[in-house]
Amino acid sequence: MAPRPQTRWGKNRPPERRIWLPLLLLSSLLLAVASLNAVAAFLRRANDLGRRCAPRPAECTAGDVTSPRRRIAIVSFSDESEGGGRRSFRGVRAAVEGNKRAYAEQMGYGYVDARDLVDRSRPPNWSKILAVRSQLPLYDWVFWNDADTVVTNPNTSLESILEAALGHGDFESSPDLVVTEDFNGVNSGLFFVRRSKWSENFLDAWWNQTSFVHFGSTKSGDNAAMKHLINSLSAEELSVHVHIPQMQCLFNSYPWVPSWKSVYRLISSPVVTWQGVYSDGDFMAHLAGLDEKKKWIEVILEQLRASE
Ligand SMILES: *[C@@H]1O[C@H](CO)[C@@H](O)[C@H](O)[C@H]1NC(C)=O
Ligand SMILES: *[C@@H]1O[C@H](CO)[C@@H](O)[C@H](O)[C@H]1NC(C)=O
Ligand SMILES: *[C@@H]1O[C@H](CO)[C@@H](O)[C@H](O)[C@H]1NC(C)=O
Repeated sequence: MAPRPQTRWGKNRPPERRIWLPLLLLSSLLLAVASLNAVAAFLRRANDLGRRCAPRPAECTAGDVTSPRRRIAIVSFSDESEGGGRRSFRGVRAAVEGNKRAYAEQMGYGYVDARDLVDRSRPPNWSKILAVRSQLPLYDWVFWNDADTVVTNPNTSLESILEAALGHGDFESSPDLVVTEDFNGVNSGLFFVRRSKWSENFLDAWWNQTSFVHFGSTKSGDNAAMKHLINSLSAEELSVHVHIPQMQCLFNSYPWVPSWKSVYRLISSPVVTWQGVYSDGDFMAHLAGLDEKKKWIEVILEQLRASE
């Protein structure tokens, strides 16, 4: 009997193996993608699953707040003149401005686009300090918004956010700076400043941190400078003047977008992720660190419209 002709692949490698291996790889890949999407969907429901961003439900609107009405301004700007590529802010202003203006009007707040104030001698993000400083004499509270943020629950008033953060609505005895923390410490993308001498001095001192000014990277140094300044306050000054709510999602939620970085952070800092992840019902979404900001803002606004 003639010997069976040897295949090119030899005896030990049946031809099926050639099909199995890619199939196995493909199905593990699909499984990984499916579980990433399942994680994203799970985190998106954090509030349904019992997470509380505020000590009590922040559902009061401006009308039923007991303390006297305060003059509040939302201050923002979007610098679209520089920076292209994936981290581009191009088109972001058009996408969020209507959202912010409608919210401010509905609640009776000022809305200030301070892009005329941008100081070209520093990366544009630093000019948020000038923008807030310029409005401080005119309002009781200034609420700074980075350009890549969007109001996702317009029924939440800023007064109710402040009351939830501070535990009271007493303006005179209130801290001056309310800011949240993420994986990297304080995040200067969204913060409240109260009109006071301390606040003016803090903003001036922040602007004076020139050694942090940094060109040519996604980090311009303004956030690091704020962190440095807060860290250098005495414990007493910190407790009187700065308030950091425990729950980042009170007003600075980060959408969880499947990526290696998100997975790494979920595993290394599950509590911080949980406290800060964007979930349905949250007041604001902040696309910190995400590329394609315009796309994500449109996705979020579209989902909000669809759920109305
Ligand atoms: C906001 O309030 C309006 C009017 O009270 C209500 O119709 C709407 O369903 C509320 N939306 C959300 C997201 O709670
Ligand atoms: C900031 O720098 C200016 C100019 O050097 C100085 O006059 C001012 O006192 C500084 N302010 C603070 C709060 O550090
Ligand atoms: C400016 O701020 C935005 C919004 O937080 C951030 O995504 C961006 O990386 C910052 N740009 C620089 C140059 O720091």
